Amino acid sequence: MDNMDFSSFLNFNTVTVAIAVILLILLVSRSLQRPANVPPGPTGYPYVGCIHLLRNRNILEVFRELRGKYGEVFGLKIGPNFTVVINGVEALKEAFVKHADDFSDRPGGFLAEVVFKNKGIGFSSGENWKQNRTFSLSTLRSFGFGRRSLESRIQEEITAYLDVIEKQNGKPYNMKDMTVMAVSNVICSITFGSRFDYNDVKFKQLTSLFAENFRLSSVAGAAQAFPVVRHLPGDLFSVKRLVQNFEDIKEFINEQVIEHRNTLDKDNQRDFIDVFLLQQTKNGEENPVFDDLNLTTTVMNLFVAGTDTTATMIRWAILYIVHYKSVQDKLRQEILKVVGTSRLPSLADKPDMPYYGAFITEVFRMGNIVPLAVPHGAKKDIHFRGMVIPKGSFIIPNLDSVMTDPEVFENPDEFHPERFLGENGQLNGKEKIVMPFSLGRRACLGESLARMELYLFLTSLLQRFEFLPESPDKLPSFDATLGLARASKDYSCRIVKL
Ligand code: HEM
Repeated sequence: MDNMDFSSFLNFNTVTVAIAVILLILLVSRSLQRPANVPPGPTGYPYVGCIHLLRNRNILEVFRELRGKYGEVFGLKIGPNFTVVINGVEALKEAFVKHADDFSDRPGGFLAEVVFKNKGIGFSSGENWKQNRTFSLSTLRSFGFGRRSLESRIQEEITAYLDVIEKQNGKPYNMKDMTVMAVSNVICSITFGSRFDYNDVKFKQLTSLFAENFRLSSVAGAAQAFPVVRHLPGDLFSVKRLVQNFEDIKEFINEQVIEHRNTLDKDNQRDFIDVFLLQQTKNGEENPVFDDLNLTTTVMNLFVAGTDTTATMIRWAILYIVHYKSVQDKLRQEILKVVGTSRLPSLADKPDMPYYGAFITEVFRMGNIVPLAVPHGAKKDIHFRGMVIPKGSFIIPNLDSVMTDPEVFENPDEFHPERFLGENGQLNGKEKIVMPFSLGRRACLGESLARMELYLFLTSLLQRFEFLPESPDKLPSFDATLGLARASKDYSCRIVKL
């Protein structure tokens, strides 16, 4: 390289470096800048945003502090995504009910696009979501007319579940896996037409694929917040594993769909898949809203959304009755008075059991199992309370802000079912404030089913068994882990036949 060449080479590199530095500064300042009028909140670092605020901290506590500092609607970057958190009963209703047109979409990204391919219900948006949700809701509601009722399907499962529990003979027992299997089997019965034996090899495969993906739910969160994680070589973060598991689950459901299609009889609609396939025939198979991918994804959504949540609630309820013997006694007295012991409790008994109503509401409040609901997304700039929520933002309905609000519930850290009862022993209306299923058009699609399952499982368990700690000095911990659901840590208890 002669002198001339060397100096132009130097110049070239200096210019390149200068441009790179300017671009970097622009990028950094852009990513730190808060566009005018967005909801207030802390500023973070480029790309990672305010992730440092969450390190080694409980995200719910951090959000409580930020609410105290910035008010009912605050915003912060979590990773590269701007996230707006909506708090308190009034702001939640105003956003998700009053302005439902703006606040009912899901964000794009890893879960919507890669895992669920913008199909099904849980992570799709727009017309596809609307039609699949309406169809699924009306199908679930119509079970009971002509087809086997939801109640009889749940009771069939409970009978098998109680037998397994009875066989433990009062020895310390961790109900977790068994409860997940039983609740998952209810979804099998609704979607595939029949339950599986707990030892069925295929059923075990299915439940272990779901169990692994529940364990990997933080991976899904990381891939959603940091898309780069997906493109790293190898599978250090198990993202590929998570996606493959979902593909295997879809394959399992697909086999069921093929079997159903081969034996379909419009005069004998056996289950959810049959009803969907008949709708598909009516609408023409090429209609993308009723295609096979929507069917398999919707069924998968029902399993994902309806298994861990309900099973986690059952475990929180048992944990509380192990701790609070007087609550357990009152519940049992009510069951014995209204139902007796000669038959299983039925939904017709529920209106006569206000103490159960108060108890389950308090478990919903304290268990707080989906405290940040599921993220919504802004498909365009949203104008709200004089602020702008920019297009592409994540929007979090902070349900925890209601459950633990001392302005709404006196001594919110105390477990006290009576707070929901009036002097006449009936529910006092405060139960309506507790919103574990979120609110607005995206509110949980399975609320009625979940409430039915919780009532039938818990009253049947209490009717037959007494729940005791492993030993008097070993009460289960109230510590929780926050994954897909806010779950109690594993615990065992003694379940003694009455
Ligand atoms: C105790 C049990 C349950 C709780 C606490 C619960 C709670 C929730 C919450 C908080 C959401 C998010 C709502 C939002 O985006 O604002 C949700 C969504 C959903 N849940 Fe549940 N859920 C439970 C059981 C079930 C069951 C049994 C099913 C059905 C089998 C189900 C199906 C769904 C579906 C499909 C969605 C997505 C709805 C949509 O995006 O339109 N859930 N649930």
